[in-house]
Amino acid sequence: MYLSEETREKIKALRDKYPTKKAALLPTLHLVFDECGYLGTDQLDEAADVLGISRLEINEAASFYTLFPKHKVGKYLLQVCDNISCSLRGADNLVGYIKEKLGIEVGDTTPDGLFTLWTVECLGSCGTGPVMQVGDRYYEKLTREKVDKLLDKWKNGGEDGSSKEPKQSDR
Ligand code: FES
Repeated sequence: MYLSEETREKIKALRDKYPTKKAALLPTLHLVFDECGYLGTDQLDEAADVLGISRLEINEAASFYTLFPKHKVGKYLLQVCDNISCSLRGADNLVGYIKEKLGIEVGDTTPDGLFTLWTVECLGSCGTGPVMQVGDRYYEKLTREKVDKLLDKWKNGGEDGSSKEPKQSDR
């Protein structure tokens, strides 16, 4: 088994709660992500079996929702917007700076498993770029100094950036 009994039970509860199994797909993906931190094929296949839908269907849904990592990522997934507005405000330089600081390329994870760096499409906060999403938070109007402080905080066991929905900002 790739999923805990608790997650399996929650998926069953979703299956029984929603009018169709398809309607329970997205919340099921969230449950898998909450437990694993990414959506791996084995975990998705198991979730599909519990939910009672085809494995193909759940894998297609997982591919559609690009916010979910498909492979194991670091404890802190740094998602830096490099779309046009953020680029004009220095996102490219910032990404270069983070790469240099962490010693990794975009898409990679630091050897200690702490940080993964992604560049992503517009995060919908174009007026406050450059913007980075980590877990459930947006970090806006980013500067090198702000990045330094954040990375130091997280290296020293600061708040967990593993939750999923953007809810608040830290300007
Ligand atoms: S362009 Fe970066 S948030 Fe929109």
